[in-house]
Amino acid sequence: MSGRKTYLNCAYMSPMLKKVERAGIKGLKIKRSPHKLQPSDFFTGVNNLKRQFGNLINTTDYDRIVLIPSVSYGVGNVTNNIKLKESENVVLIGDQFPSNVYPWMSLTKKYKAKLKFVNKPKNSSKCGFMWNEAVLKSINEKTKVVSMGIVHWADGTIFDLEKIREKTNKVGAMLIVDGTQSIGTMPFDLKKVKPDALICAAYKWLMGPYGFGVAYYGNKFDDGLPIEESWINRKNSEDFSQLINYQEEYGAGSKRYSMGQQSSFINVNMLSAGIKQIQTWGVENIYNYITNITKPCFDMLDKSRVWFEEDEYRASHLFGLRPKKNLEKILKKIKDKNIHISLRGDSIRVSPSVYNKQSDIERLFKCIAENA
Ligand SMILES: Cc1ncc(COP(=O)(O)O)c(C=O)c1O
Repeated sequence: MSGRKTYLNCAYMSPMLKKVERAGIKGLKIKRSPHKLQPSDFFTGVNNLKRQFGNLINTTDYDRIVLIPSVSYGVGNVTNNIKLKESENVVLIGDQFPSNVYPWMSLTKKYKAKLKFVNKPKNSSKCGFMWNEAVLKSINEKTKVVSMGIVHWADGTIFDLEKIREKTNKVGAMLIVDGTQSIGTMPFDLKKVKPDALICAAYKWLMGPYGFGVAYYGNKFDDGLPIEESWINRKNSEDFSQLINYQEEYGAGSKRYSMGQQSSFINVNMLSAGIKQIQTWGVENIYNYITNITKPCFDMLDKSRVWFEEDEYRASHLFGLRPKKNLEKILKKIKDKNIHISLRGDSIRVSPSVYNKQSDIERLFKCIAENA
């Protein structure tokens, strides 16, 4: 195996920034001196993190931002609060990530409603455009919810969420967005898309720790029931002396949906440091950088031998390459060259980030072009 390692797999897990590691260690060490820990420490970092994430997605509704352990948990909070009629349907994207499928499978099963998957069109040209059209077409008066990503997690197809939001509004359906594979690296504006909920795991493009995430819940969930009933989500939980004066009311906004032990100093510190660095670089700069190092490389590939999405619907930071033959051989060559990608279905998923250079992408593309 070649000595030079080329990591093109941020969609699998981002490497840890040194700053994030230091922040985590600082959080870990807090438990060395429990006598120094004040009740306010359980809230300060959490509130700061909510503000940081709010600013990243362009909302000042910080009360609507909550901390979650996983996307499945975040989607669970949503499905916990939706009732369906037998005649209604839920629209998902074909081959969507399972954490945003299983909760909908249970919900539609419970109410005997229909689960509709909009599959990727078989066409090799204009595929992204046609997929978007098919999503819009599948949303009808009977659609209660559309739940999907901003880009497809396996091949990076970009979905036009503003258009999809328009259609869901027309038919009175909710839009739930899994932002895990794009928020933090691809510009996103909550005010433009206006999803009813946005859910993100922290350990990929947000540069945070594993086992943590962030979500936004809009006003449709204001009177809902959370998955768990943590004391810290109740009104006045800041006053530790009064915790057994049990409260009927939840804290403001969507606070009820945050996980128990959300204040985890390690997780909060790490994610906070990750988002801080992202904000310092700027999401637009990050995305432009990745676009500039990837886009020119597509000239190296022969489209009759390797399928890839057209520019307009292909995310720069996550895209699929599908060799029409020799997949096994190509995967072996990639591995021998110590290049790290993921295989999702029959697509080679490539997901570069800020630590990559154009030569990294060229190394991979050369390997594919020579063997396809
Ligand atoms: C689109 C998407 N959502 C969510 C996740 C992670 O889900 P969870 O936090 O439930 O493990 C992944 C992981 O690859 C993903 O690609």
